[in-house]
Amino acid sequence: MELTFSQACENNKSAILSILQKAFIKTKNVLEIGSGTGQHAVHFAEKLPHLSWQTSDLIINHFSINQRIRSSQLKNISAPIHIDLNDEWPMNNTNKTSNVDGIFTANTLHIISWFLVKRFFEGVKNNLKNGGTLCIYGPFNYDGKFTSESNANFELWLKDRDVNSGIRDFEAIELLAKSAGLSLISDNDMPANNRLLVFIKDN
Ligand SMILES: C[S@@+](CC[C@H](N)C(=O)[O-])C[C@H]1O[C@@H](n2cnc3c(N)ncnc32)[C@H](O)[C@@H]1O
Repeated sequence: MELTFSQACENNKSAILSILQKAFIKTKNVLEIGSGTGQHAVHFAEKLPHLSWQTSDLIINHFSINQRIRSSQLKNISAPIHIDLNDEWPMNNTNKTSNVDGIFTANTLHIISWFLVKRFFEGVKNNLKNGGTLCIYGPFNYDGKFTSESNANFELWLKDRDVNSGIRDFEAIELLAKSAGLSLISDNDMPANNRLLVFIKDN
């Protein structure tokens, strides 16, 4: 059985794990938005056996994610639920009763439109338990500038593909996060000009 494969995930999963090991040290139930191939989910669920990892994505990716989960035989990872950021998240929870105390997303905020980035933070506000942790991996701009020539070229590629996508400004993301009740805990430098932002939802 051939599994859908992303070389980028293979390249970045160890560096991401080194941050998640600290950020999710007390976390029990992680929800991932945009699980893609499922490679991150399987790697992190295997290396962080104290937590349960809930995958999610658009339906188009469910088959690949399910295949990868099945082949992993891990018990602490769940088949994808359908979360399209255009819609309400099907968690059936209020802030007070949600058991999601961790949310992870990688390489999504520059793919989706700014409207959906705002919807993402609304979803985090409504579904992440108070005191829970949000980890976001991907490229960001600072002071309105690209952090590298390769990110500037990546932006051209993104816009050519979809004019509504694009590398987000860190400052705008932090503002949105604040309005969703989140505080920035750390902004971690990652290989290949990426960042891993860690936020905590205030009690
Ligand atoms: C570049 S891929 C990243 C996948 C994976 N997280 C990774 O790092 O390889 C972007 C992901 O965003 C998801 N996505 C795109 N539009 C979405 C939407 N409206 N709602 C939820 N996820 C969406 C895609 O299906 C895909 O899994």
